[in-house]
Amino acid sequence: MTALGTHPVTMRAWRIHEHGPAPEVLRLDEVDVPDPGPGEVLVRVEAAALNFPDLLLATGQYQERPPLPFTPGLEIAGEVVAAGEGAQARPGDRVLGAPTLPRGGLADFAVLPAGGAFGIPAGMTAEEAAALFITYQTAHVGLHRRAGLRPGETLLVHAGASGTGSAAVQLGKAAGARVIATAGGPEKTALCLELGADAAIDYIAADLVTAVREATDGRGADVIWDPVGGDVFDASRRVVAFEGRIVVVGFAAGRIPAAPANHLLVKNYSVVGLHWGLYRRYEPAVVAATHTELCRLYAEGAVKPLIGSRRPLAEAPEALADLAARRLVGKSVLIP
Ligand SMILES: NC(=O)c1ccc[n+]([C@@H]2O[C@H](COP(=O)([O-])OP(=O)(O)OC[C@H]3O[C@@H](n4cnc5c(N)ncnc54)[C@H](OP(=O)(O)O)[C@@H]3O)[C@@H](O)[C@H]2O)c1
Repeated sequence: MTALGTHPVTMRAWRIHEHGPAPEVLRLDEVDVPDPGPGEVLVRVEAAALNFPDLLLATGQYQERPPLPFTPGLEIAGEVVAAGEGAQARPGDRVLGAPTLPRGGLADFAVLPAGGAFGIPAGMTAEEAAALFITYQTAHVGLHRRAGLRPGETLLVHAGASGTGSAAVQLGKAAGARVIATAGGPEKTALCLELGADAAIDYIAADLVTAVREATDGRGADVIWDPVGGDVFDASRRVVAFEGRIVVVGFAAGRIPAAPANHLLVKNYSVVGLHWGLYRRYEPAVVAATHTELCRLYAEGAVKPLIGSRRPLAEAPEALADLAARRLVGKSVLIP
């Protein structure tokens, strides 16, 4: 038995009918509002946050390939309007989470999976709530569970003004680390300092290896957060400290780099893979506990999602074009 609120029968949903660059292949369709199944909830989307993987989904290069046509959009916040049998959230609750593809969040309504609707703390805007899920969960699980970041260690965050980067800067500071951020250009490095980084390096203008060595008295960084890959990963291997950990987060630069095993041995460091989405499948309790911890850090003022762009849902192609062109800082949100 489904607990029903009132909602329309059809809705707007951006859909991808064929793979290609997101801004070109997105089509705004009128589709049926989905019904929530057992344990699921139907949410009226108040804000949907974009992620780099939305670009990869559109081109078919993401690890997940939903059947065509599909709606991208990996994280949303909004109000529950109908709840499937056994769902924990009820109509009227404000929740955030990741809709299950192929019915993503770039739509007026979205379904959150069983166990996947998390409460929004009082005082948090829908925009912040939509931005608190994937990037902050990824950064928290990556820094703490995968890299074991300790107070007093030096954390090097690449692309510190980006979605995952800005979260890692804030969570690194909250964990008591000394944070050095890198970013492309002076505006972005200035923003990294505003986010709390102790130092920031423009890795387009400066030589990354020299700059990190100078900033660490030649010791290097204990933990390196790398959502960029390519040349940035290669440079990271040269500036990782004794017993350091490089967290492989993503490959925004486009090239998947390699780490020779003899280099790991000789320098005594680890390369740590991170696929946060797998925790939803294998360790959902970690996701729930991390959400509780993120809400606590938000309430303390230790983290606050950086909303770099707000646009109406109708402007999804423009927002994704900005993301692809590296023009954004923090998170980009769409408002239906
Ligand atoms: N492992 C996981 O579980 C997980 C979870 C979420 C995301 N990710 C991955 O993490 C990466 C970052 O995601 P995000 O959502 O934080 O992305 P984002 O906000 O779009 O940031 C990506 C940043 O990468 C930098 N960059 C360097 N070279 C680039 C290039 N050629 N094109 C575009 N950007 C480039 C840019 O910062 P600068 O201009 O400062 O260089 C850009 O702001 C993606 O690869 C994504 O798939 C992984």
